[in-house]
Amino acid sequence: MLPGLLLGATAIAGPAITALMTLALCHDAAIVPVLIAIALVVPASLALGLLWANDIGRLNAIVREAVDGSGTDRTEGASVPWLGPIQAIALDIERLARATAARSALVERLRRADAAIVERLPDPLIVLGADHAVLRANTSARAVYGAEMPALLRHPGLRGAIDRAFADAADQATDLVLPVPVPREVHATVLFLDPPLADGGQAIVVLSDRTRERAVERMRADFVANASHELRTPLASLIGFIDTLRGPAAEDRPAQERFLGIMAEQAARMNLLIDDLLSLSRIELTEHQPPSDRVELAALLPRIAAGFEPRLAARRITLVVEIATGLPQIAGDADQLAQVMQNLLDNALKYGRDGGTIRLLAARAPAGGRWPARPGVLVGVADQGAGIAKQHLPRLTERFYRVDAGRSRAIGGTGLGLAIVKHIVNRHRGQLLIESEEGVGTTVSFWLPER
Ligand SMILES: Nc1ncnc2c1ncn2[C@@H]1O[C@H](COP(=O)(O)OP(=O)(O)O)[C@@H](O)[C@H]1O
Ligand SMILES: [Mg+2]
Repeated sequence: MLPGLLLGATAIAGPAITALMTLALCHDAAIVPVLIAIALVVPASLALGLLWANDIGRLNAIVREAVDGSGTDRTEGASVPWLGPIQAIALDIERLARATAARSALVERLRRADAAIVERLPDPLIVLGADHAVLRANTSARAVYGAEMPALLRHPGLRGAIDRAFADAADQATDLVLPVPVPREVHATVLFLDPPLADGGQAIVVLSDRTRERAVERMRADFVANASHELRTPLASLIGFIDTLRGPAAEDRPAQERFLGIMAEQAARMNLLIDDLLSLSRIELTEHQPPSDRVELAALLPRIAAGFEPRLAARRITLVVEIATGLPQIAGDADQLAQVMQNLLDNALKYGRDGGTIRLLAARAPAGGRWPARPGVLVGVADQGAGIAKQHLPRLTERFYRVDAGRSRAIGGTGLGLAIVKHIVNRHRGQLLIESEEGVGTTVSFWLPER
């Protein structure tokens, strides 16, 4: 304060005193008035210097407060009228400080909002800084990739996309195949952020797992190829026989009879295949909607079983039907459940042992064990056929999957029966289980909820 005061006073009084002294020394003025003038100038300049130093001190304090953000409200009433400009500067600085504090609060809010959005988005996201290093990863990325994140970011495909995004300041996308720990197909998008996020995030890597989608795409493509192939075989045979009947066999009556028989069989096979394909697509359309009708299994099962009597007799197979008394009604679609029973009994007959026994059982599901704990009904079809090797069991409900395609075709199978069963059971929110022991037989069971 003191050096400021002296400096201010000297600046004000210095030139005046120098001028007065010069006048006195050159005898242009009388010494007494000069001394009086000097005596007046000194206290006046000291007073002015004091006021300046005081205000500059206050200005200094305000600036310091503004710098460390602890600005307090000051009122303009405290101003000294003849020092207006300094007071005005002080007030402007205060306003500036308040505006800066508000802006940094806003930036902080935005930074937190950025972080919260990234954190809560359902896709795995990784935020990279300007140096390409990971700034943070959201919950989903941590859950899905966790410890493999560094390895993932070293993947040459992803590395390349990140480098290109930074080099071109533009978004990039790439498909990655991750072999471990389980094979996955991931679509990665690198979003270059200009301007960057409030925390300096310069790019976001979005990872979407496409494994399921790709599998579905492949399944659809396989399905179309399989269906066309299944239809083409009997069609080719029909075309061949038509040519033969028109040409070489035109006059051969016995050959014509034989060929027409085969043609009828092939046409029937195509018919069966188309029926199954149509059923499958109809069931798929309603699969998301559980049935609401009430079905009395105790009445439905024996009716379906009775329809198999001629075929059972031809193979000398005994069908034992055991339906527990007091079987509850279930919520179901009677036509679809009839189709399930048709397909299961058909398989038990086709792949069962001549002269053997097929058992059809229905009862309330036992509590606990392998079936859901809710009340439900269990239906099973057990045969004494050759059984199915273990490695085939998980795939039997895939469309067109057959253990022995040639044998299945020869006995009128389409390879769609169990796929249809699976879809119907799914629609009923039930569960399907196929158990088999080679040389002993196969049991296919399904559980349906009571309501
Ligand atoms: N009860 C069974 N015993 C032995 N194998 C069976 C039995 N049920 C199904 N399979 C096997 O599962 C395959 C698929 O069955 P399915 O979908 O009904 O087709 P399809 O009977 O038309 O061949 C059959 O080809 C057969 O290899
Ligand atoms: Mg079948």
